Amino acid sequence: MIAKPTIPDLLDQSPDRPGAQIGKPVSRVDGRLKVTGAAKYAAEFNTPGLVHGYILSSAVARGRILRMDTARALALPGVLQVFTHENRPSLPWFDRRWKDDDAPKGSPFRPLYDATIHHALQPIALVVAESFELARYAARLIHVEYEADPHQTDLQAASAAAFTPGKDKGGFEPPPKPRGDADRALAEAEVSVDLEFTQAVEHHNPMEMHASTVVYHNDGTLTVHDKTQGPLNTQTYVCNVFGLPKEAVRVISPFVGGAFGSGLRPQHQLFMAMLAATTLKRSVRVELSRPQMFSFGHRPETLQRVALGARKDGTLTAIIHEAVQETSQTENYVEVVVNWSGQQYKCDNVRLDYKLARMDTHTPLDQRAPGAATGVPALEIAMDELAARLGMDPLELRLRNYTEIDPNTGKPFSSKELRACFRQGAERFGWSRRNPVPRSMRQGRQLIGWGMATGVWDAMQGQASARARLGIDGTLTVGSATADIGPGTYTAMTQIAADVLGLPLDKVSFQLGDSNLPMAPLQGGSWTVSSVGSAVKAVCDRLRERLAKLATGLNDGPLKGLKAGDLDFAGGFLVARSDPSWRLSITEVMRANDLLVLEEEALSVPYYKAQMQHKAGTHSAVFAEVRVDEDLGTVQVTRVVSAVAAGRIINPKTARSQVMGAVVWGLGMALEEETMTDQRLGRFMNHDFAEYHIPVNADVHDIDVIFVEEHDEVVNPLGAKGVGEIGIVGVPAAIANAIYHATGKRICDLPITADKIL
Ligand code: MOS
Repeated sequence: MIAKPTIPDLLDQSPDRPGAQIGKPVSRVDGRLKVTGAAKYAAEFNTPGLVHGYILSSAVARGRILRMDTARALALPGVLQVFTHENRPSLPWFDRRWKDDDAPKGSPFRPLYDATIHHALQPIALVVAESFELARYAARLIHVEYEADPHQTDLQAASAAAFTPGKDKGGFEPPPKPRGDADRALAEAEVSVDLEFTQAVEHHNPMEMHASTVVYHNDGTLTVHDKTQGPLNTQTYVCNVFGLPKEAVRVISPFVGGAFGSGLRPQHQLFMAMLAATTLKRSVRVELSRPQMFSFGHRPETLQRVALGARKDGTLTAIIHEAVQETSQTENYVEVVVNWSGQQYKCDNVRLDYKLARMDTHTPLDQRAPGAATGVPALEIAMDELAARLGMDPLELRLRNYTEIDPNTGKPFSSKELRACFRQGAERFGWSRRNPVPRSMRQGRQLIGWGMATGVWDAMQGQASARARLGIDGTLTVGSATADIGPGTYTAMTQIAADVLGLPLDKVSFQLGDSNLPMAPLQGGSWTVSSVGSAVKAVCDRLRERLAKLATGLNDGPLKGLKAGDLDFAGGFLVARSDPSWRLSITEVMRANDLLVLEEEALSVPYYKAQMQHKAGTHSAVFAEVRVDEDLGTVQVTRVVSAVAAGRIINPKTARSQVMGAVVWGLGMALEEETMTDQRLGRFMNHDFAEYHIPVNADVHDIDVIFVEEHDEVVNPLGAKGVGEIGIVGVPAAIANAIYHATGKRICDLPITADKIL
């Protein structure tokens, strides 16, 4: 047995707890700033003398630049410089080994490094001019001669040379070793399925396009406004690449208009803006256009095979999951894909295999629930097919093979309320009324299908710090160098701080997106509440202790002699639990002690020991209804119920929005999103919103989100697991399974477009 970490009274979930702010469906504290346009994004910070850069991209997918003629561009009045590999200054690059916090193994892309072309749309020049329009026009006047080499952008062909990547230094573990003999168990199984899956490239396409505004100060220091999921990552990157001391670079990024992983790594517009600003000694902005948003990182294309064997009663006897995924020529981008297939169900014979195939493309990049969003749908579609062959209800099949421990590691889950997700989701959806026979439910010309699937994501935590400053007027400011890419981090952190100190929300403000604030990890992996939230709680706990000590130490005060544990903090007061009429306001306590401010800083580290002895994950059960018009091949997703177990929910309103948004994305993944490559050119072709389809309002109908109650004393002091990614994972399979139920067609190739239905 391990010693469980003690969780102080914050885990007391009683809604009547004095000062409670955690668990309330608070509207976004930054909502007004965002909807009124007062919130400033990276490309909206202006400064006198600002000039603009425009990036020219390669026209070939592989080869080299033979000659560049920039004379006509440079001759235009107002054009300041054209940067290319021929004239860029010598740079330290990554000599100090560190690349960026999300860099996979390999050699990161270096813009304007030399004449080599690694992939289509590679940035090959930066035009800097007095206006954006002028820079864009001048870029068209640059003449480039290439020598093109044959390229490989076809994953099917590239997979012939697929290889097993070594252990990645990042968070993703290689697949666990095989258990039992899965191939033999499959061959001997009473019932089996063996399916191949493909899934298209997707691009993140946040609403805000990537941009960097670098403000050059007269003393040579720089303020960098960058679209990033971590201001410290941006700071370290530019300091390493350009050889600058940290003191010379401050990164300020208070708002991010969506990112979904695209801001985890510094992108080339940041490099370009820095290059121009440091060389020209001017303030420079570089912003990508929508088509240029397809010129870096994407959710990689994947080829998969899932084979399942079972006894006639539904007991799984074999799981085989193989995946081949694209990566670039220069980096091993690893997101594993198959690991969850060894974790979701009890099974003695499991073989998981993950390989990479090199292509002439830029390195793929984490996109919401990287790996799980790709691999879990394959498993969950195969489970649905197995249920169909067994003549068993798909939900019943999952319950039959339910596991309370992680079979990959043998460790118990820190908590797993997936059964409650199944039960509550099924009830809300009306699953028991499903006619199991495909094509049996219809209304007029429309076939109706009901499908379900399971979702899973890891619950992680990183080290983080926070600083807090309490004023004598009872106002509290807390800060940490995290980001808010849209999940509602400002709001959740404000709630946690207010909760600990029993303050009204309007007395608390939270600061983020500034490299001068205490250390926080990248915002990703759904771990910000866990990591930064724990730091916010820790620093506010310290203030709480100090206030309690000050209050109980006042000789003539009403709280004299009480212990910290005898006090509640509520409404700006310290209140005796035994008799709430004995109380002191924060202002009274500070005034009596001659204090104008109290300041603290705290570092939060994971409960390593307890976490190592458990597997921590979020789970979901997703139920979907589709209506299919077989004459037109159209699919409408008319209802989705997503029941999520993610530990304690800090803010049910913003958490629900996270899951709703993820369901919409899952819908896009199932039916619409697909970046297509023209193999002759080796280039993504549909690089705009006219041709890259994402769900629009007309595609989105009823989405019902349930958070089941789940208590967890291992994941972190808050018991909150995070909800950013879990929302998408089960959705594509639930929709694909519903389409099977509606039509009798088992489609294993995402997205399921009209041509595949017909
Ligand atoms: Mo998310 S792909 O962890 O930014």
